[in-house]
Amino acid sequence: MICRILEGLLTPENCPPGSEKEVYEAYFQFACVWGIGGGFSSDKGADFRKQFDAYWRNDYAKASLKFPEEGSVFDYFIDPSTKKGEPKRCAHWRDIIPAYKHDRAALYQTILVPTMDTTRIGYIANMMLKLKKPVMLVGNAGSAKTVLLAGLLRELDEDAWMYYNINFNSMTEAVDTQFMLESPLEKKTGSIFGPPGTKRLIYFVDDLNMPTPDKYGTQSAIALLRQQIDYGGFYDLKKLTMKKLENVFYVGAMNPTAGSFFIIDRMQRHFATFACPFPQAEVLTTIYLSVLAGHLANFVPELSRMAAPIINATIALHAEVPHPFRPTPSAHLTPPLLYRTLRHPSPHHLLSPWTRFRCLTPSCRPPSSSTTSGTCASSRR
Ligand SMILES: Nc1ncnc2c1ncn2[C@@H]1O[C@H](COP(=O)(O)OP(=O)(O)OP(=O)(O)O)[C@@H](O)[C@H]1O
Ligand SMILES: [Mg+2]
Repeated sequence: MICRILEGLLTPENCPPGSEKEVYEAYFQFACVWGIGGGFSSDKGADFRKQFDAYWRNDYAKASLKFPEEGSVFDYFIDPSTKKGEPKRCAHWRDIIPAYKHDRAALYQTILVPTMDTTRIGYIANMMLKLKKPVMLVGNAGSAKTVLLAGLLRELDEDAWMYYNINFNSMTEAVDTQFMLESPLEKKTGSIFGPPGTKRLIYFVDDLNMPTPDKYGTQSAIALLRQQIDYGGFYDLKKLTMKKLENVFYVGAMNPTAGSFFIIDRMQRHFATFACPFPQAEVLTTIYLSVLAGHLANFVPELSRMAAPIINATIALHAEVPHPFRPTPSAHLTPPLLYRTLRHPSPHHLLSPWTRFRCLTPSCRPPSSSTTSGTCASSRR
């Protein structure tokens, strides 16, 4: 993975021929940080990125690229504006976060509010796409894996690229996968199949780890993809001859808390894998606020001014409600639910998340109900 990132970084613009060895070393450091540490996230109180940051700063303190004290090594990239002959400097990712532009016609599922995480992961994932290397994003529900990859694919040059979405679920088998893989292809010569014309095709396999393993532990859908990547194709199920696929490759996303935790390593090794952390509370507020404020911009000022208080109150309530309950109820009260509700601010829609939360708070339950079961009849209405 380090070599793949280096391949994307060592362009003639970044490293003109004859550059000093410090320039190469700086890019090598950046490639190591993301190649080794890009897959780390935090889990059950252990922040693996923080641990990696401490290790890197300690063991490579004398390296030529000096990371500023503030934040972590993951917060910086190499400033492209450094002139030839000058030592390479770090620039903060937050300084290049694109501004969010609200599109009232956009579907909720396609909205991406740029954040520092989406900016840096998007930068490296985009670099992998340009190199035609498979890339995978891993993270919990709502960490924007799907919107981020879908956004990158939409931005590719339509004359040279096409993409095809495949959504795996617990029932997906090899035969379904083969059908989906073949759908966008046309026959080239003999047993060779590929995307129309001279285009390259990217399959976006979402929820890749969802297929249920069989009794031998095999996820046949993933095994078929693995065979295609390693051997170039799969068998025609009628003629029993090999079908080769050309000019195709894969990007994927998976949530390790839904579906299998691991996928077979013979498949995993093909992907440059990056962790997508779930946004911190203040970033979450920015995300929701950007969308709601954008949506309310055309409303009367009394209502559009309400955007911030509504979001703050809703997030505070969302944070409070799951405390007295087992984990289960919070699952259907995830921020995306709030998000959907707030996206249609009729008085009824605006009230519904609070009504729903209130039904779950112990104070509004009948005295006989348990405070830990986490469900109540009225919440399911
Ligand atoms: N910066 C952002 N970070 C997280 N979510 C965002 C962001 N911007 C927008 N969203 C919205 O949050 C919702 C969740 O994003 P998305 O569906 O991509 O999550 P996911 O990581 O693919 O989750 P899952 O594992 O459930 O598929 C989307 O509707 C998206 O529009
Ligand atoms: Mg998704």
